[in-house]
Amino acid sequence: MGEEELEAVTRLLKSRSLFRYYGIDHQHEVAAFEADFARFVGVRHAVAVSSGTGALHTALAALGVGPGQEVIVPAYLWVSVVAAVVNQGAIPVLADIDDTFCIDPAAIQRCVTGRTAGIILVHMSGAPGDVEAIRKIADRRDLFLLEDCAQCAGGSVNGRGVGTFGDMAVFSFQMNKNMSAGEGGAVVTSDARLHARAVACHDVGYARDANGRMIFDQPDLCLWGKGYRLDELRAAILRVQLQRLPQTTSAMRGSKYRIRKALARHPSVQLRRIVDPAGDTGAFLITTYRDAETARRVNLALRAEGIVTSPQGVSNVLLTDWGLHLYYNIVSLVRQTSVNQSGFPWTLAQNADSARAYAKGACPVADNLFERSILLAIPSCLSEQDENDIIRAFDKVLPVCAA
Ligand SMILES: Cc1ncc(COP(=O)(O)O)c(C=O)c1O
Repeated sequence: MGEEELEAVTRLLKSRSLFRYYGIDHQHEVAAFEADFARFVGVRHAVAVSSGTGALHTALAALGVGPGQEVIVPAYLWVSVVAAVVNQGAIPVLADIDDTFCIDPAAIQRCVTGRTAGIILVHMSGAPGDVEAIRKIADRRDLFLLEDCAQCAGGSVNGRGVGTFGDMAVFSFQMNKNMSAGEGGAVVTSDARLHARAVACHDVGYARDANGRMIFDQPDLCLWGKGYRLDELRAAILRVQLQRLPQTTSAMRGSKYRIRKALARHPSVQLRRIVDPAGDTGAFLITTYRDAETARRVNLALRAEGIVTSPQGVSNVLLTDWGLHLYYNIVSLVRQTSVNQSGFPWTLAQNADSARAYAKGACPVADNLFERSILLAIPSCLSEQDENDIIRAFDKVLPVCAA
């Protein structure tokens, strides 16, 4: 955050017009951000929303997901992904990951049933999944592909931006993301119908005219709204953050690949397979070890060397300590809980034939990788000295802890 964000926020506050659709001195900041963001991603349309979670709910509503349908999700994800499926009344089906730490295309094939509506590919921990292969599966099986790019804004595969492969894609601008306004999100698509439905669903359920007035005579767009509009203030911050994004990802990628190169000297470390290093945003480094005990020892030793963030100490972490990113830690999924007495959506007759397996053991490749891997966040402000400190710490601890 710098002077540009401060200027943007001040300008917006002075306008006294913080609502996106109209105001006394309306700045049209959300609309401008949507246009900027769609252009940046490489799609026709973007809808700015108040969170990545809201973006997922909006996208699934636009796609018409509901009871009687299954949506394939990865074992390594964020709780919001399953929450969006469950809240729509559909059944999440877990597919295992591979050494990209994203959903495994072969596992997707095994999960498809006659009830499968689509696939959510989550580009986890800063780097894209094998999206080209997954797009082909979606096409062959006539499934929708929703890309969750919350952790991968600015990423690409073979020169094509993440978010352009899916029928729809979502982004988050929450604090931990590559660009942020504290909270915020976006739904993107090149499909005009899906866009119109997302616009209606993220708001009050109806389309609006150029003056922000609701339209009630479009039968296709008399839907139900979820109330995820973004405000002008955060859009103004996000427009500045978007301009910074290439610089942010290039800095993270530079640091990460310098460290990865140094780690290649150590045969005791396996590095995550990256589908296209040029399109990795660099936000996280994942290293994998022989077994759980080795990973635990390396993690503790790196921490003792000062390779730990403060004050909360969330990085570096063993992946097993990465909370609601791991399917088996999502208690409400494992227990199939409901927000109401009916047991929705688990007890719906339309969902009766869907198989469910959510407890640890359901995705053995993920279970094994989680136990043996460490996640290190890579900030965009690492100096050469910081990078040297990280490399020196690995050089010191690996021969002792992982030999
Ligand atoms: C993969 C993924 N999807 C969705 C979300 C939800 O975003 P938000 O926190 O903005 O609701 C997050 C982030 O928290 C995420 O990491």
